[in-house]
Parts: sequence; structure tokens; C-alpha cells
Amino acid sequence: MAILKVARLGHPVLRQRAEPVAPNAIRSTEIQRLIDDMIDTMQEYDGAGLAGNQVHTPKRIAVIEVLGNPRYPDAPHVPLTVLVNPVVTPLTDEMEEGWEGCLSVPDMRGQVPRFTAVRLECYDRHGEPVDVVAKDFFARVIQHETDHLDGIVYLDRMRDLSTLSFVAEWNKHWLGLHEQDD
Ligand code: NI
Repeated sequence: MAILKVARLGHPVLRQRAEPVAPNAIRSTEIQRLIDDMIDTMQEYDGAGLAGNQVHTPKRIAVIEVLGNPRYPDAPHVPLTVLVNPVVTPLTDEMEEGWEGCLSVPDMRGQVPRFTAVRLECYDRHGEPVDVVAKDFFARVIQHETDHLDGIVYLDRMRDLSTLSFVAEWNKHWLGLHEQDD
């Protein structure tokens, strides 16, 4: 297992549309190693999720985990989830603003509108099909990560850049002042 280098905003790989993984290749050594390395990398940098593009490998794979994350101390827990070829369908018109950050946009936070409920269809790391309904914070993280696979970063989704903050300033001026949506 290895900690991978994370692409930062400006690297063209973050703007690429990632390629699907052939379902019969999911269990290959190469893909299994990539998934393991993505999990290691996400955990090393306290990410809530990580997408293939972010580790310079534009394949439609993302990993998500939120468990007592120091970067998101107030966030609800999300168990370790591996998404291969995810398809996300909104289940509501309702969108909610919430704070997001991204390992590819270091040390920043901004308010991003996301659908509050989505259907997630994908394969898991064993190649088994997954079809679940995700709500609220889990739905938010899924939308953030699957956006990466389409070359979209959270800044593109912000309606109002005035909330964009460095984390140090956010801790001083935003944390606790506004109820978090999640
Ligand atoms: Ni991100």
C-alpha cells in the first residue's frame, strides 16, 4: 500500500472526465491496489473522500469515509464506501447549502448547494452491484466525489463565492456562528 500524490487545483487531470472501469477488471490486482492506495491516501490526509482524478488516475473510482475526522469534527459518520462507476440520480429538487473542502483545494472551505437525497448505483470493490438511497451528509459527499469524476470541483457549484474562506479564518469567523446544514 502507498500514499499517493494528490493533484491540486490547476492540474488538468482534475478537469478530465474519468474513464469507466470494466466490471470484470474490478477484482484485478491493479484496481484492488489502486483502491487500497486511495483509501490509505484519503486516511493519511483526513479527507472525507477521494476520487481517481485526484490521484492522477482518471478512472471512475471514488472512496468515502467520515469517522471522527479532524478536518470535519462535526460531520456525521459515513462508513468506508468504495464506489466504482457511480451513477447518481437526485431524488428531490430540494438543495441545501453546506460547508465543503477538498484535498485538491487545500486549506479552504466554502458553502455548496447539494441535493439532500440521491440514489447511488455503482459497483463495490468486489464487483457487486450497489443500489442505495443516500441522504444529507452522505449524499453531499457522494455528489462531491462523483463530480470529481466528471472534472467538476466544488468551487464550480458554489452560488456565492463570498463564503469561500481559508480554514484558519473559517475557524475564527464561521465555525459555530452559523448552524451547519449537515
Ligand atoms: Ni474533493
